[in-house]
Amino acid sequence: MKIGIVGLGYVGLPLALAFAEEGHTVAGVDSDPRRAAALERGESYIEDVSSERLAAIADKLSAGTRYAELADCDAVLIAVPTPLTRNREPDLGPLVSAGTSLAGVLREGQLVVLESTTYPGTTRERLVPMLEESGLAAGRDFNVAFSPERIDPGRTDYTMRNTPKIVGGLTDACLDRAVALYSEVCDRVVPVSGPEPAELSKLLENVFRSVNIALVNELAMLCERMGIDVWEVVDAAATKPYGFMRFDPGPGMGGHCLPVDPFYLAWKAREYGQPTEFVELAGEVNQRMPEFCVELVATALNDHSKSVRGSRIAIIGVSYKQGVGDLRESPALKIMRQLDARGAELVYHDDFVPGLIDFELENLPLDEALENADCAVIVTAHPGLDIEGVVAGAPSVVDLRGVTRGIESPHVVRL
Ligand SMILES: NC(=O)c1ccc[n+]([C@@H]2O[C@H](COP(=O)([O-])OP(=O)(O)OC[C@H]3O[C@@H](n4cnc5c(N)ncnc54)[C@H](O)[C@@H]3O)[C@@H](O)[C@H]2O)c1
Repeated sequence: MKIGIVGLGYVGLPLALAFAEEGHTVAGVDSDPRRAAALERGESYIEDVSSERLAAIADKLSAGTRYAELADCDAVLIAVPTPLTRNREPDLGPLVSAGTSLAGVLREGQLVVLESTTYPGTTRERLVPMLEESGLAAGRDFNVAFSPERIDPGRTDYTMRNTPKIVGGLTDACLDRAVALYSEVCDRVVPVSGPEPAELSKLLENVFRSVNIALVNELAMLCERMGIDVWEVVDAAATKPYGFMRFDPGPGMGGHCLPVDPFYLAWKAREYGQPTEFVELAGEVNQRMPEFCVELVATALNDHSKSVRGSRIAIIGVSYKQGVGDLRESPALKIMRQLDARGAELVYHDDFVPGLIDFELENLPLDEALENADCAVIVTAHPGLDIEGVVAGAPSVVDLRGVTRGIESPHVVRL
């Protein structure tokens, strides 16, 4: 088969690779010419995709900015961003742009699958009408399905191959084609009755995480007041073999998914006059975390008779999660902005993030970041971080990830 992939980011590029590694020809389209050019040079910009893997399928994968390349594809998968507007409402701009461009080259017999996370109804109500501008009828002249991406960047135990893939087709024939397509790269494909349950299942998964993270974050804030170690509480509760699923507190949610997707559902729910209070409350609690963490830093400095203003603070880990350099919605940046506004002198260490343009900062080696620091704040603990080195290297340490557990030191404050 020849597969087209629209949007070659965290989702699209691994997808492209999976199909190419199965021997299919893949035509990738990305509106960012730098990304397309990097791929053409065989250079990866996504941590999970090594340049060696790219080199191995170089003759199978082409990348460009022109949708015309998709005209002779059997299937086209769309993995463009679905962000929020400034007012925190769904921004379907990238999807509209992709759908409109695709309509211009759509051919009879093609299968189009939307992978981007979005509210239920997007495929049928928004994507299909755009594609039908081509003059072809969805379900009759071409097939349409929705299949949510479940990739977890940085994860190696669950990959595209062994993570079940949910698929909902516009018609039975659409579903059959999409199931056959994904069976090429996934061991288990889970059909559902249409695009809407598939769209909503992804939102359920993300809201589930958001709500549970908010719950344990709220508990962490309470534990701080009560003088109870929240990590000890979570560790203890997690010994229950059934009916409990562990979630850890942290500095707040980051990435393209959890801070964004629940708002897609809340927005759509308003159309039906049905409040989604859990969803919105979870978002609010999680958004409060960076501010709470800044207060922990201020208190830790205060205990050393220091103010935030004028203190040198080393931020350890600035991406939103361990093992990746993704800065989108990263709580570290929110914490840094607030500390900066209070007059702190900031430095950071994160080997996944070479520079932070907004702060005019560059990644420093750990020992340089800790040099003369009044406080080190562990926001994201990447694999291999020398945690004992951090504890030994700063007069005050604020650990927002619980990674200093087991290290006895009076100058460590844990979330
Ligand atoms: N990153 C994740 O962990 C993850 C996991 C599951 C689902 N998702 C969802 O998948 C979708 C894509 O996320 P991502 O993380 O891959 O985003 P990304 O920003 O990493 O990649 C999207 C790519 O699409 C390109 N693009 C934007 N508009 C385009 C257009 N009109 N035509 C062609 N290319 C265009 C961008 O240049 C970018 O390279 C989102 O809906 C997201 O919610 C992401």
